[in-house]
Amino acid sequence: MVVPEGPAGAANLRYEGTEIELPLERPTLGRPAMDVSALGGHHLAVYDPGYANTAAYQSAITFVDGEAGHLYYRGYPVEQLASSSFLEVAYLLIYGDLPTSQQAEEFVARVRDPKLVPHAAIERLFDWFPQSMHPMAMLSMATEALTAYAEDDPGADPRARVEAAGIRLLSAMPVFTGYAMSVLRGLPKGRSNRSLDYSEDLLQLCFTIPGSDHLPDNATARALNTLLVLHADHELNCSTATLRMVASSGAGFYSGVSAAINALWGPLHGGANQAVIRMLKEIKDSGKPLSHFLERAKDKMDPFLLMGFGHRVYKSYDARAKVIRQVALDLVEKLAPEDPLLDIALQLEKVALEDEYFVLRRLYPNVDFYSGIIYRAIGFPDEMFTPLFVVGRSAGWVAHWLEMTTTSNKIGRPTQIYTGPKERSVPKNPATA
Ligand code: CMC
Repeated sequence: MVVPEGPAGAANLRYEGTEIELPLERPTLGRPAMDVSALGGHHLAVYDPGYANTAAYQSAITFVDGEAGHLYYRGYPVEQLASSSFLEVAYLLIYGDLPTSQQAEEFVARVRDPKLVPHAAIERLFDWFPQSMHPMAMLSMATEALTAYAEDDPGADPRARVEAAGIRLLSAMPVFTGYAMSVLRGLPKGRSNRSLDYSEDLLQLCFTIPGSDHLPDNATARALNTLLVLHADHELNCSTATLRMVASSGAGFYSGVSAAINALWGPLHGGANQAVIRMLKEIKDSGKPLSHFLERAKDKMDPFLLMGFGHRVYKSYDARAKVIRQVALDLVEKLAPEDPLLDIALQLEKVALEDEYFVLRRLYPNVDFYSGIIYRAIGFPDEMFTPLFVVGRSAGWVAHWLEMTTTSNKIGRPTQIYTGPKERSVPKNPATA
């Protein structure tokens, strides 16, 4: 196969004496992709486990440069956005450009509209959730329940409907997260204070004892805002690809987000932030040296992995992890200087980055390696880490769904390499066959 140099072109595939021309799609950034639509006509398919080399969509939202370790939202390096307000970044992802001050004001007013506080029936749903239920399951169910209670105008144009649903989702997510935290704590639910900034409100919903007038301190709210920004989008990761898959069937927005929340929950994806803390606690409690855990991570017979390490796309230091590492260093020293887990994480990172196994495979800390340490310092229980990822990622999900309403899409339907039995007949008497 030859991929020619130049602005367009095609790759030619020779198969059983036939030359098949595969036109190239050239992205603004990233690898050119061969359009393999013609392969079906030749009775051929592409085998790509985990879709690692499959571009399923065209998208103008986010780009990860895994080789260089850069992440761009609509062309802006994420480091440059790290101290922008989360809702400004959400606006950028959704509409394509940073808002003017008037646009920002209007957008904040729409998302923070007190009338958008979730319906009382959804609030009551949380009363039924047991304290033992994982908050990711609570968020997924509450989001799906929005389908029943969100006002929707089926006559409105599709873009306006998705936009309205997206605003409602952004509006609801801190409230759902606060409710989930109240279930975990076994305390009454807090009330959203719409005069506060998004991250401040999220914090007070999670930590304020109802009836008291506790307000979060600025440094903590700023750190949380940065974490939301850094989690806001990440191209076609597992959960966003799930969201798009659901969208492609014509199902509703909240169902897609609910499915995406479930995909994010897994420990190889967003659930890694909770798994990292479990691993660091295990290391601390075991009293065993770090080398013991590195050897286990390298042993293919042992399911143990170095959680928070490695990434499908990043082959150098994750752009987000660099910023988060610094936030962890600053905030943990202030809020939880006695927490031993940060030191263990720093040492583990050092030894892993010097170890040949990790060096050869280009495995670096990812976004989840230090984020849990920050959430822990703020006071969140471990189960709340992945829900906080959801709050940030909701912005990206809105942007992706909206993009899909304005581009033509086929229903998502990968093919397979069938390895089952060939056609055979059911025996006349299966019991004696
Ligand atoms: N610990 C030990 N070995 C690892 C790790 C790890 N954390 N990650 C990858 N490897 C090895 C893997 O065994 C394989 O080795 P070999 O080539 O000898 O078979 C090689 O590195 C390549 O890894 P892979 O599993 O083929 O890579 P992938 O792109 O399929 O998986 C990943 C990416 C993130 C699922 C994986 O690195 C992993 O399981 N990491 C730990 C979980 C984690 O931190 N997930 C968060 C990802 S970032 C946030 C997000 O996605 O939301």
